[in-house]
Amino acid sequence: MGANLDITDKLQNYINKFGLKLNPVQQEIIDYNKTLGDIKRMQIDPTQCHFLHLIIKISNIKNVLEIGTFTGLSALSISLALPEDGKLVVLDKNEETSKIAQNFFKKANQNHKITTIIKPASESLNDMKNQKFDMVFIDADKMNYKKYYEKSLGLINQGGLIIIDNVLWHGEVADVKYSDKYTINIREFNKFVCEDKRVEQVIIPLGDGMTVCRVL
Ligand SMILES: C[S@@+](CC[C@H](N)C(=O)[O-])C[C@H]1O[C@@H](n2cnc3c(N)ncnc32)[C@H](O)[C@@H]1O
Repeated sequence: MGANLDITDKLQNYINKFGLKLNPVQQEIIDYNKTLGDIKRMQIDPTQCHFLHLIIKISNIKNVLEIGTFTGLSALSISLALPEDGKLVVLDKNEETSKIAQNFFKKANQNHKITTIIKPASESLNDMKNQKFDMVFIDADKMNYKKYYEKSLGLINQGGLIIIDNVLWHGEVADVKYSDKYTINIREFNKFVCEDKRVEQVIIPLGDGMTVCRVL
């Protein structure tokens, strides 16, 4: 029977050495986030940056919506993979981190592709009725995931992708000893997506786990 490898630090270093390289500004964001203490864990893992890059390239994606930007690592990774005429709309309610992200976008010469909207994501999504995207990346407040997912389905082109981060919730989703409201919320969300006939979905065990849904 096949089995996934355990990714040790040694193996991860090997992957980093021979895999795709980060852009200098992506690395700068990671280094900056390290100075922030515990909240650095908000950013996606570099392996997810590479995954997003590849999926955008091979799916010919041009218009992307991101819900939850923080200091901009995932958004910059998405933008760098888009063609020159590609567009990315990023939503976050935090003014301070959004401004930091905007500075990084500018530094990487990506600001012409990116529109930042700073307010609660539900409000931004309600204002967006006539826009269509090829991909939505959801990485904001987890208790609203189902709401963001439903809104995203209304904003996505057929065959488009909805990618949701943190679906394995530090592994706690699969461990019965965890029954706090956040773990239960992600479990229920994963069950809902699994049973949703509007999409076909794969859970990718990168970072904290991400579900890739193709809209049917
Ligand atoms: C996990 S972080 C996003 C990480 C980012 N994708 C990255 O790779 O660095 C979650 C973000 O969601 C934002 N957020 C939380 N609740 C929100 C809400 N109701 N509306 C908009 N943004 C929200 C937070 O301000 C935070 O920046």
